[in-house]
Amino acid sequence: MRISDPRIVAKLAEMHVDLRPGTALAELTSLGIGGTTDLLRIKKHESLPDLLSLLDANHVPHKFLGGGSNLLVGDGELPWVVLQLVRPEPDVVLDGNLAHVDGAADLGRMITFCAKNDLGGMEGLIGVPGTVGGALRMNAGAYGMQIGSYVREVKLYRAASRKIEVLQGDQISFEYRHTSFAPDDMMLSVILELPSKPFKVILEGIRICNEKRRSSQPLGQKSAGCIFKNPPGASAGRMIDDLGLKGLSVGDARVSGRHANFFVNAGHASAKDMLTLIADVRERIQKTYGVSLENEVVVWNA
Ligand code: EPU
Repeated sequence: MRISDPRIVAKLAEMHVDLRPGTALAELTSLGIGGTTDLLRIKKHESLPDLLSLLDANHVPHKFLGGGSNLLVGDGELPWVVLQLVRPEPDVVLDGNLAHVDGAADLGRMITFCAKNDLGGMEGLIGVPGTVGGALRMNAGAYGMQIGSYVREVKLYRAASRKIEVLQGDQISFEYRHTSFAPDDMMLSVILELPSKPFKVILEGIRICNEKRRSSQPLGQKSAGCIFKNPPGASAGRMIDDLGLKGLSVGDARVSGRHANFFVNAGHASAKDMLTLIADVRERIQKTYGVSLENEVVVWNA
């Protein structure tokens, strides 16, 4: 979708929004898949309510993009524009055990920065790509921990009220890869309360998690992490592997040979290829185990 009306373009500039026409989302997603649309980069959180009113008034649909690491975007010219926060400097400010973190901060860099200041707890998430905002809205987790456990307060743009609001940690429910945020809420910043731990101890935890991840996941390849959520008490990866589906392909979309719940873009896969592969694997799992696997990856397909 293209914003061409000069009055809207002028208003965006007044709101400190940087308009990048015709951006290829394939370049902004870890899967390397996705069509083209206008990207609006937001420099000031405070401009969001006015920006959203402007887009609504002009019938311009939108979606919020974090780090693009858990996302499968459709092909071709996309029917909505994409909004993304510009990362401020600094993006993490510490105050005792509290870390004030911008939604656009890189998750791994935030964990490392806190570690260097003797604040731990998030070691399991070290190798998970993406922004802190994205991790928060999905309640990213790994190796027995989840980000939601450390949330003291969240500032967000609430689609329902069309305002910027602040929620306390206990007002938000964090479950397995799911939160009580609405899909069109935008995470702006978070205060995490992290346990004190010596840097050396945190570093050892990080080293162990990195090693586990390297030995079981296809880290060098284009993927969106796990495609399906694990069904209660089972592992989607093991179920797919047990059916002998590693290496199954549609075009360049392929079930990873290393971890069967990672589907990789082995070249120039389209969203259509990847969606066909996902549907095929889901159907085979349903037939064999009677289990309907739920997507873990977020799909933006029209
Ligand atoms: N397994 C297989 N074959 C495979 C993959 C896994 O037999 O191809 C077996 C493993 O040997 C292990 C079991 O299945 O016994 C579980 O595998 P793993 O430890 O890799 O964990 P997972 O349940 O597949 C979950 C998360 C990952 C997270 C890891 C580590 C989900 C959907 N996945 O994977 O998160 O990194 O645990 O904590 O919850 C993600 O969110 O994108 C993601 C990758």
